[in-house]
Amino acid sequence: MIETAKYIITTFAHDGPYENFLYLLTDKASGQSVAIDPAWEASFYESMAVQSKGQISAIWLTHSHFDHVNAVDEMRSKYELPLYIGTAEAEFWDETPSDAILFNDGDKLTIGETSATVIVTPGHTPGSCCFLLDEHLIAGDTLFTWGCGRCDLPGGSPAQLFESLARLSRDIPGNIQVLPGHNYGDKDSVSMDEQIAGNPFIHCKTAEDFTRYRMVLHDQTRKSPYQPMRPEDLPL
Ligand SMILES: [Fe+2]
Repeated sequence: MIETAKYIITTFAHDGPYENFLYLLTDKASGQSVAIDPAWEASFYESMAVQSKGQISAIWLTHSHFDHVNAVDEMRSKYELPLYIGTAEAEFWDETPSDAILFNDGDKLTIGETSATVIVTPGHTPGSCCFLLDEHLIAGDTLFTWGCGRCDLPGGSPAQLFESLARLSRDIPGNIQVLPGHNYGDKDSVSMDEQIAGNPFIHCKTAEDFTRYRMVLHDQTRKSPYQPMRPEDLPL
């Protein structure tokens, strides 16, 4: 459990084939919680809410892949929660609920006295996004500990993900802790400064290098759990 002055983030490492990290964000002032990318079992979120003394009042999605949304229906039928999703992702996903609330780059999503800025980071999917909190970046499948999301699934684009990672490296303060959507690294979370120093995808200097590494070389050469890598060790 992560606690800051304003909010609590309760984390659950799902022990399944996808190794998802599940997150519940709770605003301390109001006791309201947001289930971010609710997947696998609604009961995880219920027990996390009990742990953080929060009441679940919304769902925010970083993207629409199965392993990030497969508890959405169960949770919404139980609690009638509003569902927030990026505009481009809502267009991409063929199961976007008709009452989904759409957001765009730069929008602020608020829960009690806690707010998150939406950073749209396409590449893993056309409308993937990250949520920037005071001290944390909920990164979905855009950025993992020493890794990043794949780009070979429908709607994926390595050129777009290269630009999205460049933007995060430029714009996110170095002390922000990155909370990834999957448990693929040797640490649950590292700071943006550590990502810039040790993430091989951020070391790629051109979209062409990034594309070759993401689409071919990474999966041939990398072992999990991912460790930090120096720029000179990139197999390019
Ligand atoms: Fe994904």
